[in-house]
Amino acid sequence: MAKITVKTPIVEMDGDEMARVMWQRIKEQLILPYLDVDIKYYDLAVTNRDATDDQVTVDAAKATLEYGVGVKCATITPNEDRVKEFHLKREWPSPNGTIRSIMDGTVFRRPITMQNIPPAVRAWKRPITIARHAFGDIYRDQELVVSQPGKVELVYTPQDGAPQRLVVNDFQGGGVAMGMFNLDSSIQSFARACFTYAIGEKVNVWFNTKDTISKKYHARFRDIFQAEADARKAVLDAAGITYSYYLIDDAVAQVMKSEGGQLWACMNYDGDVMSDMVAAGFGSLGLMSSVLVNPDGKYEYEAAHGTVTRHFRRHQRGEETSTNSVASIFAWTGAIGKRGELDGTPEVTAFARRLEEAVVETIEGGVMTRDLLALTTTENPRGVDTWTFLNAVAETLQEKMK
Ligand SMILES: NC(=O)c1ccc[n+]([C@@H]2O[C@H](COP(=O)([O-])OP(=O)(O)OC[C@H]3O[C@@H](n4cnc5c(N)ncnc54)[C@H](O)[C@@H]3O)[C@@H](O)[C@H]2O)c1
Repeated sequence: MAKITVKTPIVEMDGDEMARVMWQRIKEQLILPYLDVDIKYYDLAVTNRDATDDQVTVDAAKATLEYGVGVKCATITPNEDRVKEFHLKREWPSPNGTIRSIMDGTVFRRPITMQNIPPAVRAWKRPITIARHAFGDIYRDQELVVSQPGKVELVYTPQDGAPQRLVVNDFQGGGVAMGMFNLDSSIQSFARACFTYAIGEKVNVWFNTKDTISKKYHARFRDIFQAEADARKAVLDAAGITYSYYLIDDAVAQVMKSEGGQLWACMNYDGDVMSDMVAAGFGSLGLMSSVLVNPDGKYEYEAAHGTVTRHFRRHQRGEETSTNSVASIFAWTGAIGKRGELDGTPEVTAFARRLEEAVVETIEGGVMTRDLLALTTTENPRGVDTWTFLNAVAETLQEKMK
């Protein structure tokens, strides 16, 4: 069978540990036999980031902006132990953080659903995608422990103007205080990325704050989202996409009764909390995909999980592993599908969908990695090792591509 030609390059970012071992195999067994694709390869292994003083991460992010579509394997974010383990020059920052800030992107996390892995919430029928505004608020705040009576004030000194002061609290005893901020430009980018994603995926958008209490801070988020929704009204209407604004407490109650299928856009802290709730509700980390979208529509796909160190140690000792490769496969299919869409090559997108179907059919047929055994409704499922699962997907795909 002739290979399918991919018109424009895809940027590949390799990673670490068990994720890297699976990554290589996915590429060789499921992608390269079928696609003629120009891959711009960047090795983000922690040792190579160290050797290049992290320049390789910056180059990979810039290449993703240039070509528009990238796919990334999970990588180690070094801590003190990792610095010792790999004899690193320093604790290099999280590659995801670096890529996110260069691309000015928003992360969308979406569960991969199967009929025989039902969500914990009975009402959920379709995947709920979570978008978290990963900038500012309590993650960039200044905090203060007040140990004796005194006044805490918020002071704004305009470049040319008199300072404005607000009393936060006049303390009579001990307590705590904090100051936090956000930027119009960042909220706007977030809103734009959310609507870009929703239009691409044809999903409705939910956004929520607590503007009944926070009448300036949270209200600013509400207004910027509304302005973006108004600016895109014609496109949203044409695509049949709705925008709904809720109070956060109402949204949390509504989501439990909803069928799913929406993009749930959240402020930073809400997204931090709700993404774990949604992930747990849908099952395993191995079934959670993630895509970074920038406001201009550049995409970087990856699995939401890490490098699965525990399994890698076993792999290094020559022992059997049963690591779930589904989210990594879907990172590839996400990137390939989007590449086909942007290039106007439906045969490329169709290949991505077939590979996804091969994964789903394999699991719905009862063959799965062991992390899914406790979640499945299939009677007598076959819990298999990492490679047997990939071989089963490869066989199903081969049949489909005949
Ligand atoms: N996006 C990324 O690149 C990313 C994200 C998170 C963590 N990390 C890195 O990964 C390394 C390990 O971190 P961690 O252990 O906290 O996170 P992890 O996601 O690798 O593992 C967390 C837990 O989930 C299980 N798990 C995760 N993915 C699985 C899969 N595909 N199949 C079966 N079980 C799976 C693991 O066994 C472990 O118990 C760290 O060095 C961290 O810096 C990278």
